[in-house]
Amino acid sequence: MNTLLQLQSIHKAFADVRVLEDVSLSLAPGEVVSLLGPSGCGKSTLLRIAAGLDRAYQGDLQLGAHLPRGRGNGIGVVFQEPRLMPWLSVAQNVGFADGWIAEDKWVQQLLRDVGLQGRGDALPKHLSGGQAQRVAIARALYGKPQVLLLDEPFSAVDAFTRMKLQDLVAELAARYGIAVLLVTHDLDEAFYLSDRVLILGGAPSRLQRELAVQLPRPRDRRSPQLGQLRGEALTELYQSHAL
Ligand SMILES: Nc1ncnc2c1ncn2[C@@H]1O[C@H](COP(=O)(O)OP(=O)(O)O)[C@@H](O)[C@H]1O
Ligand SMILES: [Mg+2]
Repeated sequence: MNTLLQLQSIHKAFADVRVLEDVSLSLAPGEVVSLLGPSGCGKSTLLRIAAGLDRAYQGDLQLGAHLPRGRGNGIGVVFQEPRLMPWLSVAQNVGFADGWIAEDKWVQQLLRDVGLQGRGDALPKHLSGGQAQRVAIARALYGKPQVLLLDEPFSAVDAFTRMKLQDLVAELAARYGIAVLLVTHDLDEAFYLSDRVLILGGAPSRLQRELAVQLPRPRDRRSPQLGQLRGEALTELYQSHAL
């Protein structure tokens, strides 16, 4: 299977409330795929299933044969909030998975990668929201993942910081050859970053549509083609009564 991660016909309910119905998706090496949908439509639920954090579902999750199994399973996750350990330094948070045997050279490289060189000894409380999220990104990269799962990682920061973080993640994913599954409710973000955008909607949620973004990188946020794709997605969201 030349796929890193495949979800096949996922059905998920909380008690008797059905949230996801027959959702299938796959992620190929190096690909950036966004899962776009309104708040409450089940995006985080699906991402948690993909991350192996929730096993109470119907359907099938398959990981690519090349992904290592078990701890450090080749998948890094970034959530909406940074979830840093407040008593650990920035560097210790980045190398958290390895504790005191963390590889310091790699930690320092990652701090440079995310623009936090020299801040390794700082405590999380001394960071801005955007800087804290940079630490969370570095921590997710520490295990050298082949897949990054991102759950609205940019939605708690201001619009300018958000654009910078989007570019940072795109650049690092391309540099390290990491495939990305990004959950977002931000249409601009989805189309700017992705090769494919999957629109989730309805009650319970199903995949309504898949839009391919065949634009070369680096992309221009002002490009009319991105505007057109955004329009198509909006139409789809209206039709599925998501808006
Ligand atoms: N642990 C839970 N128990 C009960 N209901 C939940 C739980 N987690 C999520 N839900 C419900 O499932 C639906 C989808 O939630 P979620 O996946 O968080 O949506 P999204 O991430 O798209 O905003 C929501 O209606 C939410 O209230
Ligand atoms: Mg969510």
